[in-house]
Amino acid sequence: MRVVPTWDGSDRAAGSHQQVGYSVGQTVAVAIVSPVRGTVVERLVAAGCVAAADEAEKLIGAAPDDNTLEAWIRRREQGEPLAWIIGTMQFCGHTVRVDHGVYVPRPQSEELACRAAALLPSEGVAVDLCTGSGAIAVHLRADVPTATVIGVDVGMREVACARRNGVSVLAGDLDQPLRPKAFDVVTAVAPYVPTGALRLLPVDVQRYEPRLALDGGDDGLHLIRRIVVAAGRLLRPGGWLLIEVGSDQDQALSPVFAACGYYPATAWFDEDGDLRGLAAQAKRSGC
Ligand SMILES: C[S@@+](CC[C@H](N)C(=O)[O-])C[C@H]1O[C@@H](n2cnc3c(N)ncnc32)[C@H](O)[C@@H]1O
Repeated sequence: MRVVPTWDGSDRAAGSHQQVGYSVGQTVAVAIVSPVRGTVVERLVAAGCVAAADEAEKLIGAAPDDNTLEAWIRRREQGEPLAWIIGTMQFCGHTVRVDHGVYVPRPQSEELACRAAALLPSEGVAVDLCTGSGAIAVHLRADVPTATVIGVDVGMREVACARRNGVSVLAGDLDQPLRPKAFDVVTAVAPYVPTGALRLLPVDVQRYEPRLALDGGDDGLHLIRRIVVAAGRLLRPGGWLLIEVGSDQDQALSPVFAACGYYPATAWFDEDGDLRGLAAQAKRSGC
């Protein structure tokens, strides 16, 4: 049950509580390998978990004893994010701790993290705004170990979580704690779901994940616009802002990029052709 903010209708990746068919061959293999595992898979499938086999593996592998495993399965059956239950998840091949209540990094954000790492000079400085668990900063640090990478988040639970992931984090509102013109790369996976579309998110996401991490205001761009402006202040000329967006939000943002001294932004898309992010290079500092 991947909890992806697919408010734009592309909810195939979310898979929350969707039933999936398992082939006979798969079921037999599960039964032969482990009756316990087979039971866990069946329970997760019945609860609507799309990646039931994979998740069963993770639950069984991480549970210290049978009682804990049973409690964890029950929590998962209720739709609680797997990462909160077992405490970690994989992002760009790194094990990232995700504390209870902290937004679970999405696989779709790995592309942004990889693109940002490729643009970060070896001695460069990057900031991940709205860092949450710090997953993107973790990847930047690992991929460009000689660079300086920091994170910022407004939530104290998020700040603590990112610190536990080894990220240098400042608590604050976007660029408020940062020095202008000091950064080569700014990344942000910020809330960008329009308020009216929050009810279209998978039920589990609505029930469990923090609204502060999801709600982007009436057009989804309240914080994103502020980030484009803030990054304009933070970036050195030639530096890059990479930001996650969806739907057709790129169009609404073009004038903001132009007004803040960026070259026209380049978009990237997922395999279904849905917009997933924008990268824009700063011509000059400031908006
Ligand atoms: C969608 S989550 C993304 C977290 C992380 N970047 C990731 O991809 O897993 C958005 C994050 O933005 C943070 N946030 C919301 N408003 C903020 C603000 N004004 N300044 C800094 N962080 C903010 C939330 O606390 C949340 O952790």
